[in-house]
Amino acid sequence: VAARVLHDGWKLPTVQNQGRVWIGSRCKFRCLDFPICLWVDTAGKISIGEGSYLNQGVTLAAREAIEIGPHSRIGEHVAIHDTSFHPVTVDEAPKTAPVKIGRNVWIGHRAIILPGTEIGDHSVIGAGAVVTGAIPEKCVAVGIPARVVRQFDCPDDWRRP
Ligand SMILES: CC(C)(COP(=O)(O)OP(=O)(O)OC[C@H]1O[C@@H](n2cnc3c(N)ncnc32)[C@H](O)[C@@H]1OP(=O)(O)O)[C@@H](O)C(=O)NCCC(=O)NCCS
Repeated sequence: VAARVLHDGWKLPTVQNQGRVWIGSRCKFRCLDFPICLWVDTAGKISIGEGSYLNQGVTLAAREAIEIGPHSRIGEHVAIHDTSFHPVTVDEAPKTAPVKIGRNVWIGHRAIILPGTEIGDHSVIGAGAVVTGAIPEKCVAVGIPARVVRQFDCPDDWRRP
């Protein structure tokens, strides 16, 4: 785990990893009152790009793959799942599809990112959004289900402070 300093009273992340977890350099995991939970199934993979920040209470659950690009910001209590865990009907398998989050993406408080979601570079997901499908780069998407409400431009190498 990238964290080099464990502050007094902070939680450790909860990691149930039967697959692969890759964490880039200078990532920050803020586990103040709530741990960050990573769950990875046997064929699953989580990768978190360098310089990304996960706030407390974030849950990542990967049966296949969750990829977070570099310098992204994941807000408190955000859930990112690439599997629904349970089938909807008796003759269906649980929906499972990789999740890909680009670079310099900001995901607001308590957003939920469902299987198969792709979020383009630099985009912002509003607090409380539920995201499925594709969100383009350089936009703001909010609501349930998340819809684009704004587009913007920025240098490709911009890092949101
Ligand atoms: C998405 C966000 C960044 C605002 O982006 P913005 O481009 O400034 O958007 P605006 O405030 O101009 O709002 C645009 C529209 O989206 C709506 N909207 C904004 N945020 C929303 C949200 N989280 N959920 C639902 N609708 C939202 C606004 O009501 C507005 O709707 P309208 O055009 O019908 O009036 C902000 O609302 C947000 O959710 N921030 C996350 C905050 C957070 O989690 N902080 C924790 C620290 S990481």
